[in-house]
Amino acid sequence: MVHIPQHIQDLNSYTPGKPIAEIIADLQLKEWAILWNNENNLGPSPKVIEAIEKEAKNLKVYPDPISVALRKSIAKAHDCGIENVVVDNGSESLLDNIFRSFLNVDDELLTCEGTFVALYIWAKANNKKLRKLPLGRGYRFDVKRIVESINPETKAIYIANPNNPTGTIITNDELDEMIQLVPKDVLIIIDEAYYSYAHSLSDDYPDSFELRQPNVITLRTFSKAYGIAGMRIGFALGPAPLIEAMAKVKMTFAPSNIAQAAALAAFEDQEHIKTALELNKKALTEFYLALHEAELDYIPSYGNFVMVDLKTEEKAKQFTDDMLNKGVFIRHLKAFGLPHCVRISTGTEEENKLFINSLDS
Ligand SMILES: Cc1ncc(COP(=O)(O)O)c(C=O)c1O
Repeated sequence: MVHIPQHIQDLNSYTPGKPIAEIIADLQLKEWAILWNNENNLGPSPKVIEAIEKEAKNLKVYPDPISVALRKSIAKAHDCGIENVVVDNGSESLLDNIFRSFLNVDDELLTCEGTFVALYIWAKANNKKLRKLPLGRGYRFDVKRIVESINPETKAIYIANPNNPTGTIITNDELDEMIQLVPKDVLIIIDEAYYSYAHSLSDDYPDSFELRQPNVITLRTFSKAYGIAGMRIGFALGPAPLIEAMAKVKMTFAPSNIAQAAALAAFEDQEHIKTALELNKKALTEFYLALHEAELDYIPSYGNFVMVDLKTEEKAKQFTDDMLNKGVFIRHLKAFGLPHCVRISTGTEEENKLFINSLDS
């Protein structure tokens, strides 16, 4: 019998539920709103579809292993060199690369409970130590406590800004303070998957790459505002030596040539995402009002989703099930360590209406 290492035996990787189409058929739903994965339900720019169709003619060849065209475009927009950008199959792959390129067996990554679950999964899959502090007041990352908790084994700190699933941010001052206090040999990973949304919602939201720090890596993705989650592509920005280390451990021919072409077209059509950002802003306002009227506690969000605190696991589970029976797919946050909460993404106008109407029916 082949021995499976203990850390893999213990790994609870992502357990997907039933496919959406099956749920719709089983519940005989006439209308539905898919608000459980923080996607951009408006989808990508038409230019992305055009780029995919064009690239489909090129499938017999391997993709560019170093994604030059896309990295050049990203570098130009961020006023940096191509050596400051690495591209891979989404932020999840980039996180996996970070574990493999920077953490030795005895090093730990310090973060909080109630953040992006993929981080916990990739730490375990790589057999790396993860220390989770509780979230601070208002379900926010407690920057002071994180800094005070650094010990000689701490090699890296992970902050999702905005955080998924809480929707909270750390501010300009908080990030500045953290950068000042964290030793320069400790890596700070700032996951900005919802960067465009947060940027459109707050003047006090920091762009961590703009600070040009020697120990900061910024993660961004095409899965959210750019509307191409299905493509699996994202990028990291940071100092050249760190980016080079991450590039060394990535799969040679990743991302696919279609994903690279789609991301390039998406990135170069910044106008397109403005509609999604406006719609999100409007949806959040409408959600807050409806939740307030329904006497439900929510956490103001800087992403394209809102977390609702239902106080008990039972109520959160019931709320999720009731919503599903009305065609509204939302996320119960048990797997995120917040069993008393649910998360609802914003969607199209119609989907948002269905959620709001389902609150009082
Ligand atoms: C904090 C955070 N980071 C990253 C991602 C996206 O990862 P990927 O680029 O792998 O789709 C998500 C998606 O849910 C997220 O919430």
